[in-house]
Amino acid sequence: MDTLTLTRPDDWHLHLRDGPVLEHVVPWSAERFGRAIVMPNLIPPVVTTEQARAYRDRILAATPADSGFQPLMTLYLTDNTTPAEIERAAACGWVHAVKLYPAGATTNSDSGVTDIARCADALDAMAEQGLGLCIHGEVTRPETDIFDREKLFLHERLAPLLERHPRLRVVLEHLTTADAVDFVRQGPERLGATITPQHLLLNRNALLAGGIRPHHYCLPILKRERDREALVEAAVSGHPRFFLGTDSAPHARGAKESACGCAGVFSAPLAIELYAEVFDEAGALARLEEFAALHGADFYGLPRNPDTITLERAPRSVPDQLPYATETIIPMRAGGTVAWRLKSANPAP
Ligand code: DOR
Ligand code: ZN
Repeated sequence: MDTLTLTRPDDWHLHLRDGPVLEHVVPWSAERFGRAIVMPNLIPPVVTTEQARAYRDRILAATPADSGFQPLMTLYLTDNTTPAEIERAAACGWVHAVKLYPAGATTNSDSGVTDIARCADALDAMAEQGLGLCIHGEVTRPETDIFDREKLFLHERLAPLLERHPRLRVVLEHLTTADAVDFVRQGPERLGATITPQHLLLNRNALLAGGIRPHHYCLPILKRERDREALVEAAVSGHPRFFLGTDSAPHARGAKESACGCAGVFSAPLAIELYAEVFDEAGALARLEEFAALHGADFYGLPRNPDTITLERAPRSVPDQLPYATETIIPMRAGGTVAWRLKSANPAP
């Protein structure tokens, strides 16, 4: 099978940033994906429905006109999010989820949640309104080893949250461990999970062995090879609650190649191609469509995309760097090749 046509995929976890970089970021996703759940961790964060509307307009202004790409907006949950704001978000039609960042867990999470109990009323309102919660699942105690933060979150935070809010739909974002895979498999039907290309393709050696590679630094941090293998197994398994979410997170080259570099891997320019590599390698290409285009839409209760994309098994070189407003950005696999290419596509930027 050297070409693969599939229902147009969606990206259920994406960072697009804001301002002049939008036109350098959005077209890559719009070329490949029909829709994307857009993360709200801007400065300042997107905490109101009105801010989400204005942000959506700026994204659409940077979206190639013929792409049909739809940004699905999210609100940033804080200790002070009110049930009234949740009701406004649920009623507007363009907000599709609320994002929980434990305060201090990652990029621009300073306004995040300090104690999930403080959000109980907002979470009840979300369950009531059918608005889902996306979670960055890591504990934030500074003394907790960074490689254990996801695992500890599962039983310390996520299990009690699911118990206290029995009707809330939850997406555990960017799984990185075999523990998280097991937790989701054993969890209720209302618990879904996204998996990124970097966590399917790389383990922590790609970050730390033979020299530090800041462009492989992301959060949650890359884990062991056995975790990567468990993630691949989950992604290709056909289990309906695992689906595609790139967590493509652009940062300018200088912000990554720094003594204190930012977390985030920029995979948008080759995202579906990277997933095709993973599924091909696992002998599971026939399962790519479910993971990339069907499971997420079904979980979010949205229609599947009506159109298709075609991928071709043909190596393509990945540029060393790409423009990023006045700076440059280093995509995943920069200077290397990717084994699949997008054959039929909307115009690239
Ligand atoms: O690596 C990451 N980058 N992980 C996150 O959770 C946030 C993201 C970003 O916004 O840069
Ligand atoms: Zn993210």
